[in-house]
Amino acid sequence: MAVCLACGRHQIEPFLSFGRMPMADAFVDPASPGEEFFFNLAVGRCPGCTMVQLCERVPDARMFHDAYAYFSSTSARMRDHFARFAGEIIGRVADRAGAFVVEIGCNDGIMLDAFRDAGVRHLGVDPAGNVLAAARDRGLTVRQSFFTRDSAADIAAAHGPADVIAAANVVCHVADIHSLFDGVVRLLTADGLFIFEDPYVGAIVAQNAIDQIYDEHVFYFSAASVHGLAAAHGLELVDVTAQPVHGGELRYVLARGGRHAPSPRVEEWLSREAESGLGAAGTYAAFARRAAGIRDRLIAAIDGAAARGRRVAGYGATAKSSTIINYCGLGPAQVAFIADVTPGKQGKLTPGAHIPVRPPEYFRASPPDEAVLFAWNHEREILAKESWFAARGGRWLTYVPDVRYIPPDSASHA
Ligand code: TYD
Repeated sequence: MAVCLACGRHQIEPFLSFGRMPMADAFVDPASPGEEFFFNLAVGRCPGCTMVQLCERVPDARMFHDAYAYFSSTSARMRDHFARFAGEIIGRVADRAGAFVVEIGCNDGIMLDAFRDAGVRHLGVDPAGNVLAAARDRGLTVRQSFFTRDSAADIAAAHGPADVIAAANVVCHVADIHSLFDGVVRLLTADGLFIFEDPYVGAIVAQNAIDQIYDEHVFYFSAASVHGLAAAHGLELVDVTAQPVHGGELRYVLARGGRHAPSPRVEEWLSREAESGLGAAGTYAAFARRAAGIRDRLIAAIDGAAARGRRVAGYGATAKSSTIINYCGLGPAQVAFIADVTPGKQGKLTPGAHIPVRPPEYFRASPPDEAVLFAWNHEREILAKESWFAARGGRWLTYVPDVRYIPPDSASHA
């Protein structure tokens, strides 16, 4: 059994196992299929610090490389979200001449654009060369590497200390979390801020978002677990705010201990989590039971559609979809194809299940009778974009928070 990656003191207690799973972003090229890598996908909770985490991990170099499938800029709503996040950071450093902002895991530069436009000195750090090339092409300052205690020291030597270090949907990916936090402590100015956001384990539990669990998501943070992690590095959690993206995230603001007065929101989140039993073993045992029910009901809904002669496809070849598809044992016989806007995923097969990924134009030219919304976190954007589908009798099927058909007029009310 694995020891907790966060506190290093207790053995993790597994609560949900999906069995052998592929890597969620490892789309298969039908022309050169190669051998797929499988691992045992299971999550557990530390009985000491309560950190929820994967029990077994895929090596970083297998996941984050020069053919990284995910480009952040595929959603208009996410572009707006990151413009607002960057605006908040720019507001915090506006009074500091020569302020320096570092973004860990900058991907294609969706957030860095705003710093460049505002004339803020910036550096994006990412190990994936292909997404970084997109950022570099737009004139952004980037560095290809993981963010570790060593690379942070190099950055500090080359550029000086950072007033803000930001990260979105990145910190939860980093198994060597202590190297990342050591790097932050090395690079941050005396009163600098480390601001990051990630899917919130409280939202995952509340919404039964079982497909948030996949290889790249090593940690499932709460205010309490981040509070503990920060303290272990001499940092203090000084603010927590909810963010309405990816099904519910928390944004954490950390500073060196005693340098910033904490917002009352920190105590509110910690109390709310304690009162709701978010750290308790029973919460996760119940979540695992609900996961099995959702799997059974999704299989039944898709089989039922096929029995009625209805053709089923999917929308959004998300990393998340790999978990739900493989957990349910679905394949091209049940889900004919999945529409996705990402050019690098189109023409490929989904990991493990080998469902073909097609451009949205194919979905429009050859619409199914029912579409499983695998990008459920983009429901409003996708249902609005494809409003013709429900209008002509197509039905959207979701499985978050439970298996159900989305009412046809929900895009206009969402
Ligand atoms: P996302 O839910 O952001 O994340 P993850 O892969 O981490 O689970 O991925 C969204 C996917 O859905 C991405 O492959 C792009 C695709 N997508 C579309 O095809 N059309 C759209 O309108 C939107 C918003 C996303």
